[in-house]
Amino acid sequence: MTPAIRVRRLGAEDAPAYAHIALPEDQEVFGGKPGAAFHDLPETMDLYGIEGERPLGLFRIDRAYDQHDFAQAGEVGLRYFIVDHAEQGRGVAGAALAALPEMLRRDYPNAPSIALTVNCRNPGAYRAYERAGFTDTGELYLHGGAGPQHVMRMALS
Ligand SMILES: CC(C)(COP(=O)(O)OP(=O)(O)OC[C@H]1O[C@@H](n2cnc3c(N)ncnc32)[C@H](O)[C@@H]1OP(=O)(O)O)[C@@H](O)C(=O)NCCC(=O)NCCS
Repeated sequence: MTPAIRVRRLGAEDAPAYAHIALPEDQEVFGGKPGAAFHDLPETMDLYGIEGERPLGLFRIDRAYDQHDFAQAGEVGLRYFIVDHAEQGRGVAGAALAALPEMLRRDYPNAPSIALTVNCRNPGAYRAYERAGFTDTGELYLHGGAGPQHVMRMALS
């Protein structure tokens, strides 16, 4: 059953409530250090929380994503998408990604699409994005620190 979750814009004041979110080292290479998502948040990125009865995960929306060669004009980027290790495998990512299009149309009404890169060695995340409606563009992003990444996109219009 899909868990009841909501996606909420976060501020620095939410950091303590999210301090328990953790990933094992072999997943941090893909998702980044969860605590770092709050720190050094560039002006062009917004932070969102995935919440059930308590915080379950995090992600960033990058408003300057179209500076990447592979990105399309005006599209936003999904980054640092993380579900707490203790909560994985229960449909949390699926529910959060299902809530994404409505939230994006509300908060980024001019964005025609959302794109992301996912490491070729991260089939679980690739599957989660594919299940949520993202399509593999067939391009590879080769500039990530942990090896080649698939580029995926979902239209919002
Ligand atoms: C990838 C991640 C967000 C998935 O979160 P989750 O809450 O466990 O995913 P869900 O339970 O909602 O699963 C969604 C779909 O993806 C699939 N999936 C998730 N993890 C998987 C895995 N490790 N292997 C295979 N499939 C997987 C599920 O089977 C499900 O598909 P289904 O409906 O066909 O069964 C989570 O594992 C995570 O935070 N990983 C570390 C950080 C990371 O890699 N982020 C992505 C950066 S691009």
